[in-house]
Amino acid sequence: MISVLPILILAGCLQSVPKSTTPVSFSKQIVPLLAANCNACHASNTPQSGLATDTYMALIRGGKRGKCIEIGNPNKSLIIQYLDGRRQPKMPIGGALKDVEIDVIKRWISEGAKLDTDSKQPVPTTKELKSKVSALCPVNSLVWSRDGKRIYVAGYKVVEIRDANTGNKIGQLVGHSDIVRSLALSPDGKVLAAAGGKVGKSGEVKLWILESGTSTTIEGHTDSIYGVAWRPDGLQIATASYDKTAKIWDVKTGKSVVELRDHTDAVFAVAYSSDSKYLATASADKSIKIWEGMTGKRMYSLSGAQEAVMSLAFMPKSSRLYSAGADKVARAWDLRPDGGGQVKSNSGQADAILDLCLSEDGTMVLTASMDGSVHVVKENDGASIKILPGSPEMALSVKISPNGELFAAGWSDGRSVVFRIKDGTQVAVLTGNPTKVDVAK
Ligand code: HEC
Repeated sequence: MISVLPILILAGCLQSVPKSTTPVSFSKQIVPLLAANCNACHASNTPQSGLATDTYMALIRGGKRGKCIEIGNPNKSLIIQYLDGRRQPKMPIGGALKDVEIDVIKRWISEGAKLDTDSKQPVPTTKELKSKVSALCPVNSLVWSRDGKRIYVAGYKVVEIRDANTGNKIGQLVGHSDIVRSLALSPDGKVLAAAGGKVGKSGEVKLWILESGTSTTIEGHTDSIYGVAWRPDGLQIATASYDKTAKIWDVKTGKSVVELRDHTDAVFAVAYSSDSKYLATASADKSIKIWEGMTGKRMYSLSGAQEAVMSLAFMPKSSRLYSAGADKVARAWDLRPDGGGQVKSNSGQADAILDLCLSEDGTMVLTASMDGSVHVVKENDGASIKILPGSPEMALSVKISPNGELFAAGWSDGRSVVFRIKDGTQVAVLTGNPTKVDVAK
């Protein structure tokens, strides 16, 4: 019996990939797959990562990382790498395609990724088909009001204002051109900077005067903005963009005053030290660069991270900077005018750390990871205070309340929740952003 087993397995394998002579039909085989599994997040009006899968042209054009289909070469195609998990997060987020479904897409790519040629009908866009997943916009950023009563939640073209105790919606700030990716409250707590912009086109920051609900808009950069920070005197803001630059803006005039051009890849985060001595920028180029906070003059670089650095936070009233990113490590650096060095590091999450913050008294460090978990540790010795276990959805954002008792976290499925640190209980579900991403109509 035993000796027959390998043959049976082999036979099974051969059967599962039948050699077919009919070419794969885009409209009949690929379109339904994409519609059911991808369009919820990759629709033309709200394409995650710039990739729309609801028309042939958009699919061929690709997303933020460029072409996702290498015609004739399925294994080199980004789309396959995301589907088989070689690239993370594995697509579709929250599900998986069957091997046979991936094989059909592979075969279509090796056959030239063509539109059906025998069909005289117009090629259907996948928009006409119903999607299995209804997706909410990922919660990329959260901010507490100074009094700890409200939480601002970033969403698709909107910032929602939620009651921190009940989760109830109090209001919303609308008019953003696309997904809102980063929020920062002015030092006096009166103005909310909400940054984002159009993938591959332009960056945008709306400055919301919270009392009146009115806003002014700063436009610049040639790609979306991923990070925004206020200089502690409230006169300038700094922005980090996918276009590889960071910029400093005069808040009153809305004009860019300095452009920071030294990074060689996307810039994901910016932060000011509370004495404004230092401005830090973090990039996919694995480096952190330090600039004079008051002038934007280049000081030095911090290297040590093994992969993209995605988040930064200064310890309040200190020149200690925390960074974290794709190498899954949170690092602390002490900065001096003439240079800076890593003083310690902390790891424990199974995937990239996407956001990080400190309590106002500097005693706690919180990290949100792509593995879905949120960790709260002591600043001084890294001892664990609270762990929210991992989940299939990525944890994208975390912010601790001003009094240090609660934290709010946001996930890639649009969920955002407030927890009590002491016992880990759920205080309120903010639900993030109820704006349903407009899928199949
Ligand atoms: C629930 C939302 C969701 C679903 C469903 C989903 N994606 Fe994604 N996709 C994302 C997000 C978010 C990113 C960006 C990930 C990142 O940059 O870390 C992404 C990125 C990608 C990228 C990289 C694009 C680029 O250029 O950056 C590809 C390719 C991709 N998805 C393919 C697919 C395919 C194919 C499907 C369906 C089988 C699918 N996705 C389903 C949310 C989703």
